[in-house]
Amino acid sequence: MAARLRRTLNLFDAISVGLGAIIGAGIFVIVGVAADMAGPGVIYSVIIAGIVSMFTAFSFAELCSVIPEEGGAYEYSYKVLSPFLGFMTGWMLIIGNIVAGAAVSLGLADYLRILMVFPANLLAVGACLLFTLINLMGAKQSKIVNDVLVILKVIILLLFVFLGIPYIKSSNFSNPFPNGFSGLVGGAAVMMFAYLGYCNVTTISEEVVNPKKTMPLSILLSLAISALLYLFVSFTAVGVMDYRTLASSGSPLADVMRATGNDAAALLVSLGAVFATATVLHTIILSVSRIIYSMSRNHQTPRLINYIHPRYGTPYVSILLTGIPMAILALIGNLKEVVSLATFLIILSHLLVNYAAIAINRRTRPAFRIPFYPIPPVLGIITFVALAFSLLADIWLIALAVLVLGVILYYADESLLNRKRRH
Ligand code: ALA
Repeated sequence: MAARLRRTLNLFDAISVGLGAIIGAGIFVIVGVAADMAGPGVIYSVIIAGIVSMFTAFSFAELCSVIPEEGGAYEYSYKVLSPFLGFMTGWMLIIGNIVAGAAVSLGLADYLRILMVFPANLLAVGACLLFTLINLMGAKQSKIVNDVLVILKVIILLLFVFLGIPYIKSSNFSNPFPNGFSGLVGGAAVMMFAYLGYCNVTTISEEVVNPKKTMPLSILLSLAISALLYLFVSFTAVGVMDYRTLASSGSPLADVMRATGNDAAALLVSLGAVFATATVLHTIILSVSRIIYSMSRNHQTPRLINYIHPRYGTPYVSILLTGIPMAILALIGNLKEVVSLATFLIILSHLLVNYAAIAINRRTRPAFRIPFYPIPPVLGIITFVALAFSLLADIWLIALAVLVLGVILYYADESLLNRKRRH
């Protein structure tokens, strides 16, 4: 049976969901990949990616003040643009997040390997399945797990900065941009992954008290808090360790702590990375399953997916449909490619969100107004194009295949519905 979700979450919970979804493999692992491209000036990539993400975050904040529904970006495109663009947004987000979940679990496994002796891919699969199970058990239990893990990961990142700063060497900054401007933009494109997740806050809109105020605030605050943390962490990382050494590591922040001679801190940071990536994984599974659930409420997915578990009150079919493919991808995936593909698909869906933010202003006066409107959503669209071209070219074909499959599924579903209506 389908049922409405209950409103139990406040501003703190919503920010915690935001931070839970944002701070993960991006800062703990991908920062090394970004440093490889940008050089010691990677903090500028972090700043560029943060500003670009803020453009779209404003659009999300505005749209969720008008449409505070759990489907988030999907509902905005569906209601403001068209059912087709809505379906495509949902589709790109589902696949993008499933791929992102696989990337995050691979990052998790890299750090878990420091603490355990199992092969990375198996650890990643185990993580996907464990968090699928936690989500199946219900939002209440998983909210408490999320809050605790978020607080721990923030404290550990702050400790990383505090312990690392005394070991920063100015010689590590002697050639800040070895790969020039294109390296800087390439670094920013992969660091976009580190900011993904703020939009996942919207998927709990129907469980938040006073959503029209709480949602915009929590989106912007969770993005701003993570941007600040990222700045300090990336600066400390490239300051303590040569960026090339950082780039070759699967667990760069732990290596930075080891380079300071503090093995206990390296272990603690590894634990922090496991907490961080675990919370991201948890939130991704939670939010993707909610997007699928919202799409099914608009009859854009098979009705079976709409079912809510009678005992735990969770949309269990959609949770399983998220967790299982994610685990398979974690088994066969390569970190750099999954990061690029996930980022590409998710920021492509954000393109439509920025467009929807412009379109809704022609119809109504949103409760949250975008400052300097329409500059942020327009810049959000323009900068997407620049960053998308800086991502791995190998993934463009896969992304195109995902889009084509989405179009086919949409029209197949439409013709099935029309046939049903005629009979
Ligand atoms: N922003 C998320 C992470 O870095 C996806 O893991």
